[in-house]
Amino acid sequence: MSYLPPTRELRERLDTARTLSRLFYREEALVLACGDFIPWVARLETKAELGRTAWECAVAADALRERVFELRYPSRFLDERAVEIGVATADELRGLLRSQRDEYRRYLDAADELADGPSIRIADSALRDKKRQTGALAALDLAEVDPARDADYFLSSFYWPDVLDPGYPYGEGIALQVRSAVSHLNEVWAVETAGRILHDLSPELGWEFTAEAARWLYDETRHMLMGKERLEAWGLPNAMVPLGGYIYEAWRGEDALYGLGMLGYFETKNIGRKRERAAAFHEMGDATSEIDMEFDWADETLHAEYGRRWLRRLLEVRGDDPESWPQVLERCEQLVRARIEEATPEDLERIRACADALVRGAEQRAG
Ligand SMILES: [Fe+2]
Ligand SMILES: [Fe+2]
Repeated sequence: MSYLPPTRELRERLDTARTLSRLFYREEALVLACGDFIPWVARLETKAELGRTAWECAVAADALRERVFELRYPSRFLDERAVEIGVATADELRGLLRSQRDEYRRYLDAADELADGPSIRIADSALRDKKRQTGALAALDLAEVDPARDADYFLSSFYWPDVLDPGYPYGEGIALQVRSAVSHLNEVWAVETAGRILHDLSPELGWEFTAEAARWLYDETRHMLMGKERLEAWGLPNAMVPLGGYIYEAWRGEDALYGLGMLGYFETKNIGRKRERAAAFHEMGDATSEIDMEFDWADETLHAEYGRRWLRRLLEVRGDDPESWPQVLERCEQLVRARIEEATPEDLERIRACADALVRGAEQRAG
């Protein structure tokens, strides 16, 4: 008997699933490494790039994972990770990004458009991201201290006097515009906290957490950059702008459980004020601050839900009562209070002078 010959170079369906699983594990390793490194890079732009890369890798990984399930339907499993993919240095991160980029290229060269179009779409987007990431992180450099800070700024753990002196007014008008931008910039603590919990808690909480925590991290980097860009656009030099991180410092030496508590709690505490602030900026004709506040509000609403859900889940996974989360938050409050108690009168004087000068400088620029 004779048959018609194959007309395309076909790849086996299950073979493809194995290849995509391998790409998934490598993306997952990239996500965790980005989170791990965030507190150890000084420049805010680099922290932001690591956050963006973590999220993009998580988006690619999630799509790969779902595609593997489709290819294996009706069973729903990923192959065991073949090798442990450790990424301990900046060089290793760069190397993995480049080799992942090359893997996508190879995959796309061999893939069959008709049979495997959905996978091609995923690999294509991932390859585009990998090209950007390899360029953006080419100069990645890890510092010796955690949290690493860009010394261009006015470095002060407590980034506004009201942290140490509740009598210091939040401010109105220009003072409110400046205070709000400084708050956004100082979400650097949230960026670092999100990076650490992403890395530290993913092994216990699994992929769903990893994917959401990567988005959480990316959102916090966007909030930080919102503040940075507003301050720069107003022409306020970095040397006059306070940059701190006392909340991250408060839990740094503790179990990442408390990092999750801090991020879920302290980051969403002011959620109720954000609408009101956006309205105030609208009145002032400051559309940038208004829009930033609106989008921040939308993100925080998601985050509040992440925080509640994952804190309960973590307690449950550890065999603790999931309803005991208020105790975790209580301990978070204690840790922050203890960090604040370490502040000296000189710390308060220093940050007060900095804040006063910044608001004066902004008033002068407004004319
Ligand atoms: Fe935020
Ligand atoms: Fe948040």
